[in-house]
Amino acid sequence: MVTVKQTPLLPTINASISLAEIGKFSDRLSAMMDELREQMLAPKPRKHAPMFSSSQVANLCGIDRSRLNYLATKDDSGLPTGALHGNGRSRSFTLSEARQWIKSEGKITPRPVGTDGDIVIVANFKGGSTKTTTAMSMAQGLSLRGRKVLVVDLDPQASLTELCGLYAESEVDEADTVMPLVYQEEKGLQYAVKQTYWDGIDVIPAAPALFSAEFIIPSYVTRDPQFRFWDIIGSGLRPLRQEYDYIIIDTAPSLSYLTINALMAANAMVMPLVPESLDFISSVQFWNLFSDLARSFSGMDPNKRFDFISVLLSKVDYSTSSSAPVVRAWAQRAYADWVLPVEIPSSSIASAEALEFSTVYDIEKWEGSAKTLSRLREPFDMFCQVIDDRFVTKWTGSER
Ligand SMILES: Nc1ncnc2c1ncn2[C@@H]1O[C@H](COP(=O)(O)OP(=O)(O)O)[C@@H](O)[C@H]1O
Ligand SMILES: [Mg+2]
Repeated sequence: MVTVKQTPLLPTINASISLAEIGKFSDRLSAMMDELREQMLAPKPRKHAPMFSSSQVANLCGIDRSRLNYLATKDDSGLPTGALHGNGRSRSFTLSEARQWIKSEGKITPRPVGTDGDIVIVANFKGGSTKTTTAMSMAQGLSLRGRKVLVVDLDPQASLTELCGLYAESEVDEADTVMPLVYQEEKGLQYAVKQTYWDGIDVIPAAPALFSAEFIIPSYVTRDPQFRFWDIIGSGLRPLRQEYDYIIIDTAPSLSYLTINALMAANAMVMPLVPESLDFISSVQFWNLFSDLARSFSGMDPNKRFDFISVLLSKVDYSTSSSAPVVRAWAQRAYADWVLPVEIPSSSIASAEALEFSTVYDIEKWEGSAKTLSRLREPFDMFCQVIDDRFVTKWTGSER
């Protein structure tokens, strides 16, 4: 008799899951995130800005250290003296003190009184293209040139909000975001401005509730085809423009209604681009989509102009096996003069700092080599200078 060997029966696993269970699962994840955040921010419960040494402040002002020491001890200079250390020759300054020095002694052309601050959008449809890192570092770098900056987070993922030291999920209500403006309960965005831990940077935060904008805005258009759905954020920012030198908007990696608003509100654009083939392709799609959109809504301000559009090659991998040289060549062919003369290298510092909701500008003491730090910090400083200089040229109507 032939015996058929039976396959042993495995216990059946019921992997089906109901929506209610997904709800519970998500609650558990939120609790875990709160815990992780606490750990990531420990031992400092809150972000704080770094302190600055005399030579750092002297550097930022473009003066030498002896001049700084002379001015710091001069009674009538009106400049903060900082805290003295050791032999009394070295001083340390808070960020706010450092910025007072920069504003007084730095050689930066001020924005002419009465001119509106410039609005810069950081955009790219590719997630992970370093938009948020670029937006925050740009705000910090510009503030260290003495500028006053407002950052606006229009990404429901709210990473920029978290870089500003706010917990989007537990500390930001829908009412703190642009949503009341979107709901037409407010006319200007003044209500949403919050100070941050960084002197010289204020924020309009984001929260997951921003997703609702994608349903509400089109519903207005259905009701009233003439509704200027692309000018909600632009008109909300108008009353704030006199108060800031720069307003920097971080966007979600999609052509959402909020991104369209940011594109239309901005008068300059920075597109960070990681020189990898898929990133390049997606950057090209961005322009196709944006131009289709502009064409299909002819009412969408035909006179709109950008003072400039800049492509910042970012997270550039300089190892020999990298595809960066090839994609850089494509980018230069496609974007020509838009490609900035400075690029941000890929750096382990950037990823390590992201773990702590920080950027290269938040580092006060770096355990690694000074060279590793300056290799990332210097390109960011240069990037901010290039951007700042472009606006100075515009304000003064001349090449410097
Ligand atoms: N220069 C860099 N080198 C290495 N990693 C970087 C660099 N800049 C950003 N990153 C990391 O890349 C990831 C995506 O950056 P992010 O700014 O969040 O992009 P996006 O906002 O476009 O999604 C983050 O984990 C960030 O820490
Ligand atoms: Mg982002």
